[in-house]
Amino acid sequence: MRKKLLVGNWKMNGLSSSLGEIKAMADAAERLTCGLVVVPPFTLIERASVVCCSSKLSVGGQDCHPQRSGAFTGDTSAEMLLDAGARYVILGHSERRSDHRETDNLVSTKAAAATQSGLVAIICVGETQEERDAGRTIEIVERQLAASVPAVATAANTVIAYEPVWAIGTGRVPTVAQIGEVHLAMYEALKQRFGGSGGSISLLYGGSVKPDNAASIFAVDYVDGALVGGASLKASDFVAIAEVLSAH
Ligand code: 13P
Repeated sequence: MRKKLLVGNWKMNGLSSSLGEIKAMADAAERLTCGLVVVPPFTLIERASVVCCSSKLSVGGQDCHPQRSGAFTGDTSAEMLLDAGARYVILGHSERRSDHRETDNLVSTKAAAATQSGLVAIICVGETQEERDAGRTIEIVERQLAASVPAVATAANTVIAYEPVWAIGTGRVPTVAQIGEVHLAMYEALKQRFGGSGGSISLLYGGSVKPDNAASIFAVDYVDGALVGGASLKASDFVAIAEVLSAH
């Protein structure tokens, strides 16, 4: 069975003063039935983990290096994230793919390293507006899935997030039919490649998810939760989305 999961990606936002939001999320997590993960910047992971330690809220990192350690100035390994208290890591986010020129192959190598270290890899895929306009959405998402998800992926160590690039931070959300088409294609591709375990990998939607559109998105077949950016910065909004998912 695919697990319901809500993940909040804080991107490059958050200072010590934001830890109160994480505490409020941790308190709310106790009464929620969906899994809940907050992904603050690297600088807050350890302190966020202390705040969450006896709660159902998990902490994640926003990227990791494929190597365990070495001369890689500015990078962070999966083992370091785990050591700081993280249990998840977001990989292949479109902002990393475009700003840091990350390829499918690099994302796959990072995901293999993350899962080997004991982290759950949240692997992101999604088309640009140009690709959608050209009718290439399914082709692009299937290619990214095939090349970014490593052979070691299982339902226990991997989550997939479909984030259309044009829906991120824009307030523009695909129609439920558009989301449903992509999620069904992802489910079928993963099942075909990994068998039963592939069919149990959780599939999240991401891109302008808010408390007021969450119910219609979570009603779509093969949508098991969301990867939320802006609306995850405030506990009140993030918890409101989690309540919708838990009730679904
Ligand atoms: P928004 O929810 O702000 O559109 O961001 C989505 C996202 O990129 C999450 O990873």
